[in-house]
Amino acid sequence: MTLIDTADAYHRDADEVGHNETLIAKALASHDRGADVLVATKGGHLRPGDGSWTLDGSPRHLKAACEASLRRLGVEAIGLYQFHRPDPRVPYAESVGAIRDLLDEGKIRMAGISNANPEQIRQAGDILGGRLVSVQNQFSPAFRSSEPELRLCDELGIAFLPWSPLGGISRAGELGSSHAPFARIAEAHGVGPQRVCLAWMLAKSPVVVPIPGASRPETIRDSAAAVDLTLTPEELAELDGA
Ligand SMILES: NC(=O)c1ccc[n+]([C@@H]2O[C@H](COP(=O)([O-])OP(=O)(O)OC[C@H]3O[C@@H](n4cnc5c(N)ncnc54)[C@H](OP(=O)(O)O)[C@@H]3O)[C@@H](O)[C@H]2O)c1
Repeated sequence: MTLIDTADAYHRDADEVGHNETLIAKALASHDRGADVLVATKGGHLRPGDGSWTLDGSPRHLKAACEASLRRLGVEAIGLYQFHRPDPRVPYAESVGAIRDLLDEGKIRMAGISNANPEQIRQAGDILGGRLVSVQNQFSPAFRSSEPELRLCDELGIAFLPWSPLGGISRAGELGSSHAPFARIAEAHGVGPQRVCLAWMLAKSPVVVPIPGASRPETIRDSAAAVDLTLTPEELAELDGA
């Protein structure tokens, strides 16, 4: 695995913005192949500390947030910077325009967007002058409504990063689960349903890069093994309907 996804908003309390970025920078600095890892971070979401998520897609905020992420990650340019979520109070073109400026200024090496619909993907591609490299949307067995965005990314040749890709999978083995085929096919292959889920996604298009979360080494190692699991066309068709 050569990609780590994070965000300045991945923290708990209001006074610890960028907590996860700081941990990642520390971990990569202590690893001999840390420099080979692409760190994808985001700006535009905030966590005031009461458990809620708020938005600020203003260019002023995005530029300041990017500077702060740069400092925490300890790099001269961020590998992939993603606009976290459209802010209804700010025209989308203005938010994405700030990301374009960051690219032009060399503060970020690649630009992406997240939680975007097909119209916003096309608009961002235009504003960035063809330099949009990725779209990160929720997509999992339990959440399939991003399939049109996945297809559009395939057509445009840009990466599609399914977030919370394992949604619904932990209950696939339960009686009456609509995701039961994931558990059945997993058993047939002698692996866990999470691995089958990721293999199913990866088979959808070469542009698909799932970003499974993990708090244990065992789970992330298991997920990484999904690249070596090949499912048959019949299995994939069954999972499409499951
Ligand atoms: N752009 C956005 O708005 C947005 C929103 C939400 C999330 N995200 C991104 O999506 C990433 C993943 O989302 P997520 O963590 O919410 O959901 P997830 O990846 O769907 O699920 C994570 C859970 O699955 C378990 N798991 C992972 N791999 C497994 C395996 N191979 N076998 C068994 N269990 C496995 C983990 O267990 P353990 O913890 O026990 O390892 C954890 O409980 C986040 O880290 C974040 O980068 C982005």
